[in-house]
Amino acid sequence: MVFTACAHPRAAQLRVEPSLRDEFRGAFHIGAALNPSQFTGRDSAGARLVARHYDTISPENVLKWALVHPALDRYDFAPADQYVAFGERNGMFVVGHTLVWHSQLPRWVHQDANGAPVSRDTLLARMRDHITTVVGRYRGRIKGWDVVNEALNEDGSLRHSPWLDIIGEDYLVKAFQFAHEADPSAELYYNDYSLENPAKRAGAVALCKRLLAAGVPLTAVGLQAHQKLDWPTLAAEDSTIGAFAALGLRVNITELDVDVLPPAVRGQSADVATRATATAAQNPYAAGLPDSVQRALAARYEGLFSVFMKHRAVIDRVTFWGVADGDSWLNNWPVRGRTSYPLLFDRQHRAKPAFDGVVRAARTARAPAT
Ligand code: GLA
Repeated sequence: MVFTACAHPRAAQLRVEPSLRDEFRGAFHIGAALNPSQFTGRDSAGARLVARHYDTISPENVLKWALVHPALDRYDFAPADQYVAFGERNGMFVVGHTLVWHSQLPRWVHQDANGAPVSRDTLLARMRDHITTVVGRYRGRIKGWDVVNEALNEDGSLRHSPWLDIIGEDYLVKAFQFAHEADPSAELYYNDYSLENPAKRAGAVALCKRLLAAGVPLTAVGLQAHQKLDWPTLAAEDSTIGAFAALGLRVNITELDVDVLPPAVRGQSADVATRATATAAQNPYAAGLPDSVQRALAARYEGLFSVFMKHRAVIDRVTFWGVADGDSWLNNWPVRGRTSYPLLFDRQHRAKPAFDGVVRAARTARAPAT
């Protein structure tokens, strides 16, 4: 399907693509993770594209602990303030990401000056101070928070982190309680990657059940959805959404992208700590994406969105992890300096065939049965 404005000879340049926020209105919010260049308007083309297509935003980095709270007695809210103001100016559902995570976490939070772990009481007090200060500042304005990010290992067990090792399992319940106290009206989320794999999904289901049994106000599970062309299967995506919906939870797709590059590490980890060494074979599309891969990406996005539309009654939002291909973390993870193509817009901010695949899925799901 090609969306042309008219049959003018310059039709290719005049192509006016539909707005994604219109296409998904009434189904779920659709959004992107932003970096400062978009929400300050420095990247004016990116900012325009976000305002036109998206009605929810997530902060790629500016609300992570290391950036917003770099030292014990110092918070840096300037970039996060600009992020929230951008969302409000554009009438968007503004998301906060993320309060309690093992990555991008300064050492001072969990170690004393000699490098020894702090006590449970100290770490709990720091967690409470952080959550109360950050969530409290944006009370009523940031509508939903990723309270805990990536608490699970691939086998579904709880990941060793300073939070688990120093506080113990109840750090999860505490984090949600502190967030709820700081803003009782905010939606609260558990967010993780590769929950489509059976063992990790079972661990997440068990974790959610424990949180719900403890009376934690958990609104939704965030499926990060850092996908590949061939993983997960659409059946696995479908049954994963169904498994969390069966708990009475809402489901958010929170960090969607589709990696088309050859795998540089085994498995489906999206652990930001993973690093691999570059070889030319791992960067095959530096000069451009072949049509065949472009088409495969479009088909993949169409398939994923057909699953999301099927579950639109339980999905509140679908958020892409980045705006245009040039912005994606996948240009530098797990190998630095690759040319990746995981999003709907190319490096010149033009809609790709993947964009058309997404629109097709939206329209097909709404078309009256014949
Ligand atoms: C994880 C985190 C995100 C981001 C991505 C990679 O999924 O939740 O905040 O760091 O990794 O950019």
